[in-house]
Amino acid sequence: MRLVMVGSGYVGLVSGACFADFGHDVICVDKITEKIDALNAGKVPIFEPGLRELIQTNVAAGRLGFSTDLTQSVADADVVFIAVGTPSRRGDGHADLAYIYMAAEEIARAVSGYTVVVTKSTVPVGTGDDVERIIQKTNPRADVDVVSNPEFLREGAAISDFKRPDRIVLGTDSERAEEVMRMVYRPLYLNEAPILVCERRTAELIKYAGNAFLAMKISFINEIADLCEKVGADVQKVAKGIGLDKRIGDKFLHAGPGYGGSCFPKDTLALVKTAQDYEMSLDIIEATVAFNDKRKRAMARKVIAACAGSVRDKKVAILGLTFKPNTDDMREAPSLSIIQALQDHGADVHAYDPAGMESARGYLEAVTYGESPYNIAEGADALVIVTEWDEFRALDFSLLKNIVRAPVLVDLRNVYAEAEVTNAGFRYVGVGR
Ligand SMILES: NC(=O)c1ccc[n+]([C@@H]2O[C@H](COP(=O)([O-])OP(=O)(O)OC[C@H]3O[C@@H](n4cnc5c(N)ncnc54)[C@H](O)[C@@H]3O)[C@@H](O)[C@H]2O)c1
Repeated sequence: MRLVMVGSGYVGLVSGACFADFGHDVICVDKITEKIDALNAGKVPIFEPGLRELIQTNVAAGRLGFSTDLTQSVADADVVFIAVGTPSRRGDGHADLAYIYMAAEEIARAVSGYTVVVTKSTVPVGTGDDVERIIQKTNPRADVDVVSNPEFLREGAAISDFKRPDRIVLGTDSERAEEVMRMVYRPLYLNEAPILVCERRTAELIKYAGNAFLAMKISFINEIADLCEKVGADVQKVAKGIGLDKRIGDKFLHAGPGYGGSCFPKDTLALVKTAQDYEMSLDIIEATVAFNDKRKRAMARKVIAACAGSVRDKKVAILGLTFKPNTDDMREAPSLSIIQALQDHGADVHAYDPAGMESARGYLEAVTYGESPYNIAEGADALVIVTEWDEFRALDFSLLKNIVRAPVLVDLRNVYAEAEVTNAGFRYVGVGR
């Protein structure tokens, strides 16, 4: 089948490369010329484990290509996926659908023959109806079905998530479109990935409800972590104890600095806004959002407390900047608020991240970047683990003890057992322990 991905970011590129790997002919389109030029020159503009190799193999096999020419690419396509960004709209937190609407208009002008247009981007309930209306208005002769097919991949494990999904959600009431989409996902279907077919609005809501639930689960364990600190309990054992209950499950129960990233913050906010449009409030999700916002600056206060109540003119070494390991994505990373709060209190912030430093420069000011954890630890008054990259899981504390100014480790991801660190002469501060 001939597929087009409109938008070649984290979702478009991974989905496009995986579909090509299934045997489809795929063109990934983007309007950023430099991105497409880089891809055509064999460079991958994002860091995602395994993606470069997957792209190389499928380009070499002639199944995957990149273009800025949406019109030509879409003209021959059986299925066109919209995978453009849906960031928070400045000012009110609604999902900004400008890129979606623009893509829908461009697609409408370019389609020929029966085409399934699929929203893979995360979009509020009713956006599929808008896309359908825009296409019909722009090109009344277009023979198109609009399907919702939300994407659930996680950055850092995107390829395996895409190839072994927990489920595939298809929102459509067109049998013809459903048949086409089943062909698109046939290799996964053969692997017995469950396919849930439902009404389009339901599919759109599944994505938001799923992300809101996961965000709530993270905030829940973080709140329990705060209680653990007050009452002298260990949140990791509590998480294990409740996670073994199959009704709860052990995923997303790691206490930490709060959720971030390109999805949870904007999607929880957009869901709250959707409810407000329908004159209701989503109290649990609103509480989740508010709790998470507060939490990031609270983590900075934890660092300040570990530095005897002040970080003024002290050197704080931040280990990890991205919102999670194995990505270079800095969108809404907790490190951003934590570093800002530390700088507001006069700290001299030095940072190291295995993949995120280039991107971080666009978000942070007055941070000194280093080449390794040891490099930034020199003369530091505190080391702070913000992102749990593997590289930080076996630090040499006896070496670090000799180069820091004050041996203090604030471990916001509970990577280490306290004794391991204190035995090396460090003071240890974790989360919820
Ligand atoms: N990143 C994730 O982990 C993830 C996971 C699941 C779902 N999603 C959702 O998928 C969507 C895309 O997210 P992303 O992280 O890939 O975004 P992204 O910002 O990395 O990529 C979007 C790309 O679309 C391009 N684009 C915008 N308008 C275009 C147009 N008219 N024609 C061609 N290209 C255009 C942009 O230039 C950009 O390269 C969002 O709705 C997001 O919520 C993201």
